[in-house]
Amino acid sequence: MKVAVIGTGYVGLTTAVSLAMHGHEILGIDLVAAKIAQLRQGKSPIYEPGLEEALAQMLEQGNLQFSTEIKDAREAEMMFICVGTPEASDGSADLSYLLAAVSDIASMQQPSTGKRVIVIKSTVPVGTGDRIAEQLRGNDGLYVASNPEFLREGSAMQDALKPSRIVIGADHEAAFAAMEQLYNGVNAAKVTTTRANAEFIKYASNAFLATKISFMNELARLSTVLGTDITTVAQGMGLDSRIGPEFLRAGVGYGGSCFPKDTIALLQLAGQHGISLSILDKVRDVNTTQPAWFLERLEEQLHGVAGKKIAVLGLVFKPDTDDIREAPSLKVLEALQKKGASIAAYDPVASAIVGAQFPNVDYVKHPAAAFRGAHAAMLITEWKECVQLDWKEIKASMAAPILFDGRNAWPGNLLKDVGFVYTGVGRS
Ligand SMILES: NC(=O)c1ccc[n+]([C@@H]2O[C@H](COP(=O)([O-])OP(=O)(O)OC[C@H]3O[C@@H](n4cnc5c(N)ncnc54)[C@H](O)[C@@H]3O)[C@@H](O)[C@H]2O)c1
Repeated sequence: MKVAVIGTGYVGLTTAVSLAMHGHEILGIDLVAAKIAQLRQGKSPIYEPGLEEALAQMLEQGNLQFSTEIKDAREAEMMFICVGTPEASDGSADLSYLLAAVSDIASMQQPSTGKRVIVIKSTVPVGTGDRIAEQLRGNDGLYVASNPEFLREGSAMQDALKPSRIVIGADHEAAFAAMEQLYNGVNAAKVTTTRANAEFIKYASNAFLATKISFMNELARLSTVLGTDITTVAQGMGLDSRIGPEFLRAGVGYGGSCFPKDTIALLQLAGQHGISLSILDKVRDVNTTQPAWFLERLEEQLHGVAGKKIAVLGLVFKPDTDDIREAPSLKVLEALQKKGASIAAYDPVASAIVGAQFPNVDYVKHPAAAFRGAHAAMLITEWKECVQLDWKEIKASMAAPILFDGRNAWPGNLLKDVGFVYTGVGRS
């Protein structure tokens, strides 16, 4: 099928490349000319395992092209909208990019097939697709479908090629048929429903995942005073098939471009309808205070951090991405600097971008270098190279052997044997 993908960020680029791999003819469109120029040369503007290789391969095969001009997509039967829906000042989802893209499409002529489906992949508040369909009523042959995205940064290509499920919301047989044809080769459970249900599935999923994380983070605070080990508790819980093992890892809180903004957008939407989502409200509270709660433990142990050197390992919001949106590391760096600590930080991909916000941090090129002369080290992102280290050498290089593991990913028992004073999140 001839498909245009509007917005070539994390979701759009992955969608474009994976649909091309399924044999469709794809045109990726973005407003940012530099991004399009880079993409045309087979270079990915984002870091995502496997993406750049697949991009180059699809360009070579000739079924993936890029443009800054939406008019180049005049023959597209489907137009995926994958633009950002960031948090507006009142917490709601800012739909301005989405509405601009819709109006661009609405002003185009229909393709020669006489049918076109606008597919909303961006995460949008429940009711958005219906409102857009209402506005477009009268444009013959133009349909609106909701097809929320569930990929995870860090494994985006894998998730796009083998999705956990495909959710399709529409109100017309022609839209369902086109989506069915598009995803024909993809082996995944499909949910076909209304646009509003599809939109709600996305928000409900993210809100629930955020809830699991905050639930475990709050229990980790209790675990700390009880002298229990939250990682063992999580392991025991996860073996119950009703609970499952995923998303039970306590840490310094969730970040990224989805959970923070999607939880507040859902709260905002509920508020507009006079409904209070009190659990979700608390989920956000726990997440907002989690980095500070962990830093308090560090301050207690060091009797303050002023004048001390702290090593910060990992800056992106999770491993295998270069995304720093809402990353907990940003709160950690800010708090440490405010309290007068000097910081050495390591991240394999995000030093330059974080450096623009925090120029007074010493960004080192190897994880071991961050530990040198440090009075304590904190793990914020569990990159493999930040976890697999020569601990004896690290200990010898530090001013004090104090480790704060914000992801419960360092080998606590081994570290104690080596002579470190180890503190995890909610671990005895
Ligand atoms: N990032 C994720 O992990 C993820 C996962 C699932 C869903 N989502 C949702 O998908 C949407 C996109 O997220 P993202 O992280 O890919 O965003 P992003 O910021 O990485 O990419 C958005 C892209 O859209 C482009 N753009 C904006 N307006 C445009 C227009 N009118 N025409 C052409 N291009 C335009 C921007 O230049 C940018 O390249 C959001 O709604 C997000 O909530 C994201």
